[in-house]
Amino acid sequence: MSVAEILDHLDYGPAPEGDKEARAWLKRHAEAKLFIDGAWLKPESGKSFETSNPATGEVLARVAQAGPADVDAAVKAARKAQGPWSRLSGHARAKYLYALARLIQRHSRLFAVVEALDNGKPIRETRDIDVPLVARHFYYNAGWAELMESELPGRMPVGVCGQIIPWNFPLLMLAWKIAPAIALGNTTILKPAEFTPLSALLFAEMCEMAGLPRAVVNILTGDGATGELIVKHPGIDKIAFTGSTEVGRRIRMATAGTGKSLTLELGGKSPFIVFEDADLDSAVEGVVDAIWFNQGQVCCAGSRLLLQEGIHDAFVGKLRTRLDSLRVGSPLDKAIDLGAIVAPIQLERIRKLVEQGVAEGATLYQSRTALPATGCFYPPTLLTNVEPASTVARVEIFGPVAVAMSFRTPEEAVALANNTEYGLAASVWSESVNLALDVAPKLKAGVVWVNSTNLFDASAGFGGYKESGYGREGGREGALAYTKPAWIKGAKKLTEAAPPTADLGGELFGSGIDRTAKLYIGGKQARPDGGYSRPVASVAGKLVGEVGEGNRKDVRDAVEAARKIQPKWGSTTEHNRAQILYYIAENLDARAGEFADRLRLLRGVRKAKTRLEVDAAIRRLFAFAAWADKHEGTIHKPPFRGLALAMNEPVGVVGIVAPEEQGLLAFVTLMGAAMAAGNAVVMVPSMAEGLIATDLYQVLDTSDVPGGVVNIVTGDKAALGLELAKHDAVDAIWYFGGGESAAAIERASVGNLKQTWTETVVRDWGDASISAGRELLGRATQVKNIWVPYGE
Ligand code: NAI
Repeated sequence: MSVAEILDHLDYGPAPEGDKEARAWLKRHAEAKLFIDGAWLKPESGKSFETSNPATGEVLARVAQAGPADVDAAVKAARKAQGPWSRLSGHARAKYLYALARLIQRHSRLFAVVEALDNGKPIRETRDIDVPLVARHFYYNAGWAELMESELPGRMPVGVCGQIIPWNFPLLMLAWKIAPAIALGNTTILKPAEFTPLSALLFAEMCEMAGLPRAVVNILTGDGATGELIVKHPGIDKIAFTGSTEVGRRIRMATAGTGKSLTLELGGKSPFIVFEDADLDSAVEGVVDAIWFNQGQVCCAGSRLLLQEGIHDAFVGKLRTRLDSLRVGSPLDKAIDLGAIVAPIQLERIRKLVEQGVAEGATLYQSRTALPATGCFYPPTLLTNVEPASTVARVEIFGPVAVAMSFRTPEEAVALANNTEYGLAASVWSESVNLALDVAPKLKAGVVWVNSTNLFDASAGFGGYKESGYGREGGREGALAYTKPAWIKGAKKLTEAAPPTADLGGELFGSGIDRTAKLYIGGKQARPDGGYSRPVASVAGKLVGEVGEGNRKDVRDAVEAARKIQPKWGSTTEHNRAQILYYIAENLDARAGEFADRLRLLRGVRKAKTRLEVDAAIRRLFAFAAWADKHEGTIHKPPFRGLALAMNEPVGVVGIVAPEEQGLLAFVTLMGAAMAAGNAVVMVPSMAEGLIATDLYQVLDTSDVPGGVVNIVTGDKAALGLELAKHDAVDAIWYFGGGESAAAIERASVGNLKQTWTETVVRDWGDASISAGRELLGRATQVKNIWVPYGE
């Protein structure tokens, strides 16, 4: 081709990256081995599998399949190493993380090439996005190691962590997991995905080079079976998983009742909302980054385009033109936009879903760009005329496929955006800052990008709402997830005695007029649906009163009432929530003597003693009223031109099963924390002391608490807790009690993957340092990061 012809077409030529060093490294790794206890070991089973280059089908290496004996060995070594590692000073740990960051930077090109070969993603992305971010995570978390003692007081490492990661960002996901874990004094066993194990093995070499103490990091390659062995191993204290929602559910089931802490970062079907006043050309480039970045194999990919009616056609036209100019080709070619799909099975899945979309009525447009003749390639694809209920609008395709729908008003955009069981991310495009920042908090997603998309940084937490999982990675909240409260270490296991049974001949409390406490639903007292009540006895077996026997229908009514009011309560001003909590405290104070009397009758102790608990409950309400307007978010300044606003948002509707002991103080603490953060609650009080919670009805009635913010259902705690755990309109369940019910509740939570907080040890509810502050508020909120770029 002549120079004149080249200038005519302005076509890019290929710009291949050399792979000599990567090939030499692969040769050195010809033998399939695991990295356990600082040594390279053959798997006990002798089993191995191949990993190949999806762009060519070429086998790159054989990789070891870790079996039960290997997992045992890794856990044993990691456990032994954990104590000494956590006892090193934060500064000493920081130096290791810092060394790892430096080593990653020094070997960045090798990492970038190995990753591109194994995964099929473009070298441009591994070189400019994945690897620099990986180094950033180690630097950032070196900081948490340094600051742990002063900035995370009262926290300790969780212990041995099992970390299971997917194939879409192999090295980056490794960094998200390993960097905070080891920074905060944990040791880890990491399993990379079976399609992309190589960069984790290269990272293990960095650990050796950095002189990291043995067994602080162990790398076990293998497939889902190895993952399952890690999940079920009793010697592991925490599981951190990123991957499909389906496997996330299985892991939730497998860890239920084991006491393992759990964070899940799962799938998404994230909306990309373009308003009429958006800069359309920028938004088109945004779509390129949202859904064609990494071939669309991104959990937070902007895969659902929601286009305002007036610009729908023009935008689709621009997008189709842009689609045709995207280049698909060899991942090692620096001039391509899209590389290969990770594996034939994933390619097939994408094909099938697109076919289904077309069969259900969507209009298909695929880039006219040429695809390589062989290898796992799929053209950039746009589906229009898609109905919100159709398969392709609901299911995570995990490929370079965008689906487009239209909307009329901002309200409709929000409704459509939230019309998914997922809640990982969202993009909002508008030149009106008012509109964008009005819409962002209304989107049920852990990350919202304004006029931008797919921005990540170690300082800003990342993670989902709803069925996109729970827990955050990155930021302070990500660091906290690798610690636990230090008081738990010495705490006794909760053994719950059955509530005392009543001698029916006993005297009833009060004037002698028969009083059976009803339930409290939607701000009104309600008779239990079943028409039964249960006697409440004092510790001496005297009948003190009766409470309603709540059932499933009552739970449903209570959840409905909570659901209805929660958006309003969650968006009312913090000042307003504080005022209402102060008002409850004031009204409780006015009746303090009466409450102390009731507790005296229940417990058979002197009133002076129970009065102390009532006073503590009043103080606790004051504490959460004080916190209501102080549990504010943070403004992150990630290394880009803009800010990330980390907002503490309410979780939503929280089901709370209160502990048996300290029936007033514990109840009020949990209710206060949840309310302060903007949640609506369905509370199941102590069975032994539930009567005290029913006395609160009138206090709540006279304190301007909007109906439905607090609902109280008395009855069998285990049964009602289970109903709450199963209910899909409940966003989180908190359970305080014995281990058996905790396990059942965790299992039942799997339906909508609600957040669970099950505490089976004895907490000192009177100790304000652990029961009146940030720990509870952290449970009551979830962080949403709103990224706002600035500058022309
Ligand atoms: P996957 O969820 O099966 O794999 C993720 C990781 O979990 C891998 O390391 C795998 O070996 C491991 N794993 C599999 N079964 C396990 C088990 N029972 N216990 C413990 N660990 C287990 O994802 P897969 O099959 O690779 O992809 C299937 C679909 O999942 C994709 O098409 C995509 O829709 C979605 N996906 C979503 C990701 C995300 O980041 N949201 C990442 C990867 C896949």
